[in-house]
Amino acid sequence: MSEPLLARLNLAVPIIQAPMVGVSTPALAAAVSNAGGLGSLGLGASTVQQARALIEETRRHTAGPLNFNLFCHRPAVAQPVLEAQWLAQLAPLFGEFEASPPAELREIYRSFIGDDAMLALLVEQRPAVVSFHFGLPPEHAVTALKQAGCLLICTVTSLEEAEWAAAAGMDALIAQGYEAGGHRGTFDPATETQLATLPLLRLLSQRVALPLIAAGGIMDGAGIRACLALGASAVQLGTAFIRCPESAASAAYRQALVGPRGHHTQITAAISGRPARGLANRNFSSLGQAGIPDYPRAYDAQKALAAAAAAKGSDAFAVQWAGQGAPLARELPAAELMQVLEREWRGEP
Ligand SMILES: Cc1cc2nc3c(=O)[nH]c(=O)nc-3n(C[C@H](O)[C@H](O)[C@H](O)COP(=O)(O)O)c2cc1C
Repeated sequence: MSEPLLARLNLAVPIIQAPMVGVSTPALAAAVSNAGGLGSLGLGASTVQQARALIEETRRHTAGPLNFNLFCHRPAVAQPVLEAQWLAQLAPLFGEFEASPPAELREIYRSFIGDDAMLALLVEQRPAVVSFHFGLPPEHAVTALKQAGCLLICTVTSLEEAEWAAAAGMDALIAQGYEAGGHRGTFDPATETQLATLPLLRLLSQRVALPLIAAGGIMDGAGIRACLALGASAVQLGTAFIRCPESAASAAYRQALVGPRGHHTQITAAISGRPARGLANRNFSSLGQAGIPDYPRAYDAQKALAAAAAAKGSDAFAVQWAGQGAPLARELPAAELMQVLEREWRGEP
């Protein structure tokens, strides 16, 4: 199944650089596409205007295929009482940095579900691929994007989500294991399966007819080879690209990936309102685990707290998403990393 997917995408190597809001950049996506892989832009937290600027900048540096990624979470619901309690609970943490929590939470970015202005931009721009995280796009968006010639892919974390995605007309699925860095793509976190990449991939390759893209814990050519042998047509790597100079990661984040904390990634929903894996710090131990506001309203409070801490020189609440393979991340320019991954995958010296 690998060849048709790669041929349709015009990829020389079966590697997709994961879209990573806050970390991936136009320079990273362009470098990966220029190296024969699929570069991705994380547009999930962008306004239409910001997305257009990112797309235009990327296209100035590559004529290769690109993937634009959107978030299809259930649109956030404001819960004034619960949110006031959440903010009150965070107040002592803000106090440690001589700051106060915001008076109320905002929906800091919107879901692609219902964002027809973003849909219009995608239809106009016609990327090779549009990918979705946290759920499925509405039917009219699937129809419009397919008419525009885009290949549609969606992150899934269970067989049930894979079957829904197939029924909704997705062309390929990203099988995201529990090892993966960043947010779990699980449609409804209440139905979390916690399946690792290996069993998820085997399950889907036996039960679903669509091409699969493996994601989660893949850090080198041996991992790529293993996933292709397990039934994947391609792989999507996130954490492996964070130390590339083209990423937007801070120096502290790059160092932490390969330091002692790189061996201790954890999952929490308390940072943003949805489960996500990152390097353990006080975000994972101090924020509380119950009564968390909806995604991304919870993120509004966390970002304010991280900023208050940073203003006092502390990175105790810095958000550093990373997968379990963090210690294996290499510090190489993206073009070079792509060459190394390709050589390792092909088993060349
Ligand atoms: C820093 C970071 C940010 C991420 N942001 C996104 C995103 O915006 N959209 C998305 O679909 N996936 C996002 N992911 C998840 C990736 O698509 C992918 O599932 C994951 O990186 C694979 O696991 P790995 O990090 O072990 O390679 C992110 C991952 C990381 C590490």
